[in-house]
Amino acid sequence: MDAEFHNQMKICKKCSLHETRTHVVRGDYGPVDGICFVGEAPGFNEDIQGKPFVGKSGDLLNKMLSTIGLTRKDVSVINIIKCRPPDNRTPTRKEMQTCGNLWLDKQLQFLKPKLIVTLGRVALQYFFPGLAMTKNKGKIQFVNSKIPVMPIFHPAYVLRNGHAMDDEYKADFAKIRKFIDNIGDLGSVLTPSKNATLDDFF
Ligand code: URA
Repeated sequence: MDAEFHNQMKICKKCSLHETRTHVVRGDYGPVDGICFVGEAPGFNEDIQGKPFVGKSGDLLNKMLSTIGLTRKDVSVINIIKCRPPDNRTPTRKEMQTCGNLWLDKQLQFLKPKLIVTLGRVALQYFFPGLAMTKNKGKIQFVNSKIPVMPIFHPAYVLRNGHAMDDEYKADFAKIRKFIDNIGDLGSVLTPSKNATLDDFF
């Protein structure tokens, strides 16, 4: 992406989160036309290092990617919010709209992901306000009538539940693998106006 875009992002002061940030966390770009994981906002470690998902949540994300034969280099990992909210509070709708419209939406236009995987409720509801996580987890939704979005739990949520959700989380990642393995066939099958489960495709 254009250097000027990132220079502007680094000095962004469009909301009050700039007052308390250490770094703007731009996100990691994998291949264009690939898979893009979208998280909520940087936490403590991400703010210090200026990189997304480098703390415990990031460790779990890496581990889960390895269960489906992927590494962080194979995917893009971006947050909706680029600056850490104080005390890791949930970003407001206004912060999400301001930051998302300015940066994330443009990053997605550049990356043209074949699949967006949202991590947790907040990321899901950026694309689909009000959509419940529990009912829609692992089911494909469409954003802007084009890009398939698969919501899964946030790694921090899974970690908070100890090992109780390990199998369920693995099964969700297996769905991402299934999507990737079938991506070549999807072009003609994806019907943008409908929300569907993977079972409708394969
Ligand atoms: N949680 C997120 O949503 N994003 C990060 O980058 C780290 C933790």
